[in-house]
Amino acid sequence: MIPFVVNPVSRLKGEISLSGDKAIAHRSIIISALTPGSTRIENFPINKDCLATLEVLCRLGVKISKRNIPKRFSATLTVTGKGLFGLKPPSRNIFVGDSGTTLRLILGVLAGQNFTAKLFAGSSLTRRPMLRVTNPLRLMGAKIKAKVKPSATLALKTQKKKAEEYPPLAITGENLNAITYRMPVASAQVKSAILLAALYAKGKTTLIEPVRTRDHTERMLKLFKADLKVLKNKIVVKGNQELISPKRILIPGDISSASVFVVLGTIILEAQLLIRDVCLNPSRTGILGVLKRMKANIKVKSKKEKGKIGEPIGDILVKSSKLKATRVTASEIPSMIDELPILMVAACFADGETVFEGISELRVKETDRIRSMCVNLRKMGAKIIVTCSHGVERIRIQGIKKLNGAKIKSFGDHRTAMSMVVAGLAASKPTQIDDVSCISKSFPDFLNVLNNLMSA
Ligand code: S3P
Repeated sequence: MIPFVVNPVSRLKGEISLSGDKAIAHRSIIISALTPGSTRIENFPINKDCLATLEVLCRLGVKISKRNIPKRFSATLTVTGKGLFGLKPPSRNIFVGDSGTTLRLILGVLAGQNFTAKLFAGSSLTRRPMLRVTNPLRLMGAKIKAKVKPSATLALKTQKKKAEEYPPLAITGENLNAITYRMPVASAQVKSAILLAALYAKGKTTLIEPVRTRDHTERMLKLFKADLKVLKNKIVVKGNQELISPKRILIPGDISSASVFVVLGTIILEAQLLIRDVCLNPSRTGILGVLKRMKANIKVKSKKEKGKIGEPIGDILVKSSKLKATRVTASEIPSMIDELPILMVAACFADGETVFEGISELRVKETDRIRSMCVNLRKMGAKIIVTCSHGVERIRIQGIKKLNGAKIKSFGDHRTAMSMVVAGLAASKPTQIDDVSCISKSFPDFLNVLNNLMSA
């Protein structure tokens, strides 16, 4: 491990465009693989997680050809789809790396196949809970075996340790039944797994979300002409229908990657950044609403012409800002779930106390992000407390409008690592991060994009 040193900057100016959105990318190749004919996918992000999904599909017999475009970390793919029932049994066990989206979405697809597949995960994903997805898939009829252990995460000290399921998993697909399922956890990965399984089910599957989560799967399925209806928190999808390829998909820039630069632009003394062609799906842009409430100097310009895949898109212009504290409520959390670490950095630079409510899901990401961010930011001088009452966890950050340099850790988590690079750039002295190689999970080009801005 080579420690990475971040030196503070006071000026930043430039324009960037980013590789395609990771969440949309996973869905684009999975759904193309289940559709007859070929689908061309542009601006596909070349990061570890998306490559894991690509690899899994190839192992299931799908042909995917890849052509790199001038941008090093984006590619144009052509997926030759197999139709719903054309996947092949894998010749050996499938490794999904540390990509939770790959594992949970693929489980949904495998639930409807007529073969068994065994799925192994990397060290961080092996610690993440799977019952939330295995439970509904079993209700639909799939046979799943998983490693059972007492739950590793205990948000509430009073809570009894429950049995939980973890990878590795073995899944045997069956003739699935449609279900009506009220989801206990707000999770787009779980919702997507059920929606994909529902394509194989007899009858109509109805899903009810506790809070709306990112809706890329619903949008992508509609793009492929699936019979799917959304009514507030309820989604109804018909089983056994053939999908029709839109032939071409252009993935808009990743809003989670953009968010790191949006916060950076607000907290650096003299900054002006333009981020082009970002996905502005309202189920993902919670961070922009919160930052606007915090009086961030952000202008969002929506575009019409590129929204062809049913996802809104636009440019974000951000300038140095004097941030004010805000309260983020539990129902807002899913729309910014991956942006909470970077929002915690923003809160350190705000005037007053910022509160994030209902944040327990952060404990089951690539690492426990409440812990990783609190440990690191406290080392840099931040004033943070975590409280829990009536089962609701809260983070309270008293803005101090500065951070000190410190020796900190990424905890092997890409979002913690990028957030702490941003904190380091805005700190008063250099910061040393133990290892930033984990950033390649979602945004391998991050440090290059940053360096180009700094040398502009
Ligand atoms: C994702 C959903 C979210 C998010 C993850 C990607 C997706 O996870 O944190 O990075 O692509 O559906 P959960 O569904 O577990 O909240």
